Amino acid sequence: MSRRKVLITGGAGFIGSHVVRLFVNKYTEYDIYNLDKLTYAGNLENILDVENATNYHFIKADIVDANEVNNLFEKYQFDAVVHLAAESHVDRSISNPMEFVMTNIVGTVNLLNAAKTCWKNDTKDKLFYHVSTDEVYGSLHDGGFFLETTSYDPQSPYSASKAASDHFVRAYHNTYKIPVVLSNCSNNYGPNQFPEKLIPLFINNIRNNKPLPVYGKGENVRDWLYVVDHARAIDEVFHKGKIGDTYNIGGFNEWTNLDLIKVVCKAMDKKLGREVGESEKLITYVTDRAGHDLRYAIDANKIMKELGWEPSLQFEEGIEKTIDWYMENQKWMDEVTNGDYQKYYDKMYLKR
Ligand code: NAD
Ligand code: DAU
Repeated sequence: MSRRKVLITGGAGFIGSHVVRLFVNKYTEYDIYNLDKLTYAGNLENILDVENATNYHFIKADIVDANEVNNLFEKYQFDAVVHLAAESHVDRSISNPMEFVMTNIVGTVNLLNAAKTCWKNDTKDKLFYHVSTDEVYGSLHDGGFFLETTSYDPQSPYSASKAASDHFVRAYHNTYKIPVVLSNCSNNYGPNQFPEKLIPLFINNIRNNKPLPVYGKGENVRDWLYVVDHARAIDEVFHKGKIGDTYNIGGFNEWTNLDLIKVVCKAMDKKLGREVGESEKLITYVTDRAGHDLRYAIDANKIMKELGWEPSLQFEEGIEKTIDWYMENQKWMDEVTNGDYQKYYDKMYLKR
């Protein structure tokens, strides 16, 4: 029997790199193709440890280029797709929504079209797995949780683009019978996250004694999950998920931004040998994010009951591991904060 060819898109990014590592190491009987454009968020250093594995192949490509995507499907005849490539930062979507329309919507439809053409005669054992976000459900104001059946109500250009891509994936399943599965996950944290996102940004700023820019009053609530647990969940959904279904993934781990930042500050004080309370002094309240969603909270009961997945780490342990990783990988942080990062940072924060 021929080896299963699995295309993972966005595998040089934060979550994708953890998924690639897990699949390459665990499924040596598969050939794993990591397709990534290597935008500012993509970094091959994230997956150096698997780059010489015989079942790993890297393809530098842009999912917005339909010809390129079609040619790759024709050449490699992929059996399955785990689609993570995306523009993923809400703040960037506010300043440049069109990038999000192109990559998140057009890029996803290009992949669906290529899969449809490639699999037209035989969809047996084929799978298009679309990785999405809890932000498509909008913002919770009156308690409760996001269920798989919650109506979509995206509020930012980022979440609107992800919602549109989710709809296209379901529409291709309904119309063309492409075998699909989707998951919508809450906020991830852990090693290799680009420091435009809250936790790595604040770890880096604390290390460098720079202000910690808290949007608004810091009262927004997010549900945090360690990235390796998300990768484990993706593995379960990929192998055991019901075709056509959606699985919500989350940690049942809600924190206001302010409380979360205080946990990070305390752990960093300890790590850096600073006096207790010193890092907290860096907290600076800045202008709120436009249209800032108040609260996200995932009900992850379906994946827990049906697929037997559950988070493996308590939050305090996950934060410890995360901080240790960033402190031990300062070269990685210095490299990704070189060049254009400073321009981004100045534009995003100096005028706030
Ligand atoms: P990321 O920004 O760290 O990585 C995205 C990757 O996609 C990068 O490697 C980038 O180079 C690649 N990419 C971007 N545009 C591309 C294009 N046009 N063609 C090919 N590759 C391209 O993102 P992430 O945080 O790892 O998120 C991965 C996926 O998971 C996204 O679809 C995101 O919506 C979803 N998600 C993220 C979170 C989170 O907390 N980070 C939570 C839930 C879901
Ligand atoms: O919920 C899942 C989503 O989580 C993913 O789909 C997105 O790809 C991912 O980026 C993340 O979105 P958020 O907007 O929640 O993450 P971010 O790290 O940007 O912000 C987390 C919270 O912290 C949010 O309420 C905004 C706030 N924040 C963020 C930054 C960067 C600050 O207060 N200050 C900051 O400097």
